[in-house]
Amino acid sequence: MTFTVTLQASGKSFDVREGETVLEAAQRASLALSYSCLAGVCGSCKATLIEGECGYPRNPPSALSAVERARDAVLLCQAVPKTDLLIAAREVASVEDLPRRELDVRVLDKHRWSSDVMRLRLAPIGRRLQWLPGQYIDVLLEDGKRRAFSIALAPHLGPNLELHVRHVPGGGFTSFVFDELKSGDTLRIEGPLGTFVPREDSERPLLFVAGGAGFAPIKALIEHFMHLGTRRPMRLYWGARRAEDLYLRELPQAWVNEAHDFQWQPVLSEPQNEIGGVRSGFVHEAVLQDHRDLSIFDIYMSGPPAMIDVGRRLFVEAGLPEDRLYYDSFDYAPDVLAQILGNRAGIHGL
Ligand SMILES: Cc1cc2nc3c(=O)[nH]c(=O)nc-3n(C[C@H](O)[C@H](O)[C@H](O)COP(=O)(O)OP(=O)(O)OC[C@H]3O[C@@H](n4cnc5c(N)ncnc54)[C@H](O)[C@@H]3O)c2cc1C
Ligand code: FES
Repeated sequence: MTFTVTLQASGKSFDVREGETVLEAAQRASLALSYSCLAGVCGSCKATLIEGECGYPRNPPSALSAVERARDAVLLCQAVPKTDLLIAAREVASVEDLPRRELDVRVLDKHRWSSDVMRLRLAPIGRRLQWLPGQYIDVLLEDGKRRAFSIALAPHLGPNLELHVRHVPGGGFTSFVFDELKSGDTLRIEGPLGTFVPREDSERPLLFVAGGAGFAPIKALIEHFMHLGTRRPMRLYWGARRAEDLYLRELPQAWVNEAHDFQWQPVLSEPQNEIGGVRSGFVHEAVLQDHRDLSIFDIYMSGPPAMIDVGRRLFVEAGLPEDRLYYDSFDYAPDVLAQILGNRAGIHGL
């Protein structure tokens, strides 16, 4: 049995097959709706259900509060229709024309920036990848699993890809990258993925918030806006635990001189005898201390789920319209999250 989903803003509609999520069906129909974690935990795919009914047979919609659910919010990466649906969702038309495909890439080099962040440079073998700044790729693993990494370069800078890989303690793929992967090895990837891309139909000031290696897609976005010669003020807050985790801090320092109106703030949650110029605390706190009213900004944020979660709530409370907050949450892969959520449901007897 198939159901039809209609998008309220554009009037576009598509069919959803038995058991498919709304997001999967939209992607099959080459329609781009906002998403990030694909596991129901980040809220990026949140939409409003105007007509119809859906269920959550896979993961529970953890990213929705009780209030949001009562207001008919749904998570499209998990929602499976029970009837035809009319929804109000974030459509990201700019990514619709980019071909998503699998390709092999060769590791050009590995460079260790800090104890737990590695830069990987990858060269496509054969056809190059087309992507928009801020998008990510999945590395395809032999067991059918996939691991997401943001492309840390704006596409105008050439065909090679740059990744900033943070080592996750106990993580299978990131440990492999640190301990075994060598220059000359090949990896299979799929891309481009994601909807964390520049919105250029705005003249508002840009506020970027990065947590740790969340700097990777933010770097690509800033490079892109600078390449466009934007006159929009750009403000970057880059948070990390210790100074060494700000693994590329000379780059934003250079942007201060190169861009029309760029300022940045390093913010450390566990500072250790730093000298001047570094703020202590959490990165979202620094943003809110400096800007009590966020309504004038477009905000792009990327980093660990805890940072995204708190930013999502507090930035909106500080006046930012929700539809001007764009983010990628660096969650674990959907297979890991599904297992964690499954274990949790088992423990609680759900
Ligand atoms: C859109 C997106 C973009 C991203 N971009 C980047 C990026 O640019 N740079 C970057 O560094 N990261 C990025 N990430 C995060 C990155 O994908 C993860 O860190 C990566 O998937 C970890 O893979 P792994 O194989 O090393 O770890 P995994 O083997 O998947 O394990 C991850 C962690 O989960 C634990 N774990 C595994 N299974 C369970 C279980 N059942 N119960 C409890 N715990 C468990 C492991 O012990 C480990 O601590 C991004 C994520 C997303 C979604
Ligand atoms: S909650 Fe659906 S993409 Fe993250």
